[in-house]
Amino acid sequence: MAGEASRLARRGLTDFRIVEPEKQGLGSIVYPFDVRLGWLLVQHHRTCARVLWDLYESRAARLEPLYDDLLGAGLEDTRAWCWDGAKLSVEAFGVNDFAAGERQIVGTVKNALIAAAAQRHVRLEVDAEKPDLRIQVRLYEGALVVSLDLSGRAMHMRGYRMEAGDAPLREDLAALLVMLARHDARTEALCDPLAGSGTLLIEAACLAKGRPVWMSGRKPDAERHPMFAELPRPKALFGDTAPVLFASEIDPSLRATMERTFVTAGIERDVTILGGDFRDIAPKVLMEQARERGVERGVIITNPPYGERMGSPESVRALYRDLGEWCWQFKGWRHAFLVANPEFQEAFGGRPRIAKPLRNGPLRGYFYLYES
Ligand SMILES: C[S@@+](CC[C@H](N)C(=O)[O-])C[C@H]1O[C@@H](n2cnc3c(N)ncnc32)[C@H](O)[C@@H]1O
Repeated sequence: MAGEASRLARRGLTDFRIVEPEKQGLGSIVYPFDVRLGWLLVQHHRTCARVLWDLYESRAARLEPLYDDLLGAGLEDTRAWCWDGAKLSVEAFGVNDFAAGERQIVGTVKNALIAAAAQRHVRLEVDAEKPDLRIQVRLYEGALVVSLDLSGRAMHMRGYRMEAGDAPLREDLAALLVMLARHDARTEALCDPLAGSGTLLIEAACLAKGRPVWMSGRKPDAERHPMFAELPRPKALFGDTAPVLFASEIDPSLRATMERTFVTAGIERDVTILGGDFRDIAPKVLMEQARERGVERGVIITNPPYGERMGSPESVRALYRDLGEWCWQFKGWRHAFLVANPEFQEAFGGRPRIAKPLRNGPLRGYFYLYES
């Protein structure tokens, strides 16, 4: 996540030096708030699920002091994070260790924010259904943190996926795999030989071009906040990059879905669909095609089937073995996989340079990176 944020800030912000973020737990990084950075990340950051602006923090252990803390902080607050007549919702996550229930915490935060705003002559109303401002409360190392959700909805739902196969990757996880594989679209091809509905290729293309995350009319809540109104509208940050991408997918109906999804995502010109079974694609021919398009090296990246839908364990092992034999012929390329089947490593052969535990939804899996 931090690597992606740095890349975006280097390209998208002038006169700005991004600092090392603080890590909070396994899944969050925290930067000092900056309005331009917040806007850039909520529009472009592909490996995160949400972008929050932390407004207040309280170490109160009970509800009354929590209310007093937030009221006091709200009265001194001159930042324009809310406006007269705005509708607000409050949700709390991971607050089980606090001395009161989730609903009580939500009520207290809501009351304190509304009371503080009223004293500054700003009317806030509660509207859980259609809020302008979504407030999130979380507990981290004994502190309740009250944040404004700049995304408003899960950022992984980009708007390009109208239909998909049985096991599509979540879009932010697909983007993370591309980042972990360190794909450099200026010098490297990328191929997903088991592409399904093509999520990895779409995320690779959008990362390469620095495309905004939101499409098909979807927008982050930040677009409604007056404080972001003066900032430039989002556009592709590396729009002239022409990634060299290849796909194959054995299921013809899924291949058709993939083609339609590429069109919706606007990347159909970047991807060459090579055909069905990857075993019928000669590595030499693929490498030659990549060279013709100006790149000498590449990355094979995929999440192979794990087993349930593949029939016998032998056929899954055979697929992994064939994938290994195929990949090892791409001399000088890297090979990146997300797999939740412990048989993979042995059947694929060789030793991964990186083996990192990584969940795919409910499945415990591994990210493997090989070099040939
Ligand atoms: C886990 S899914 C990939 C999902 C994909 N990443 C997505 O986001 O939609 C694995 C895919 O491999 C395909 N597949 C299985 N064997 C194949 C083969 N020999 N050649 C090409 N595709 C194959 C399956 O049809 C399935 O769509």
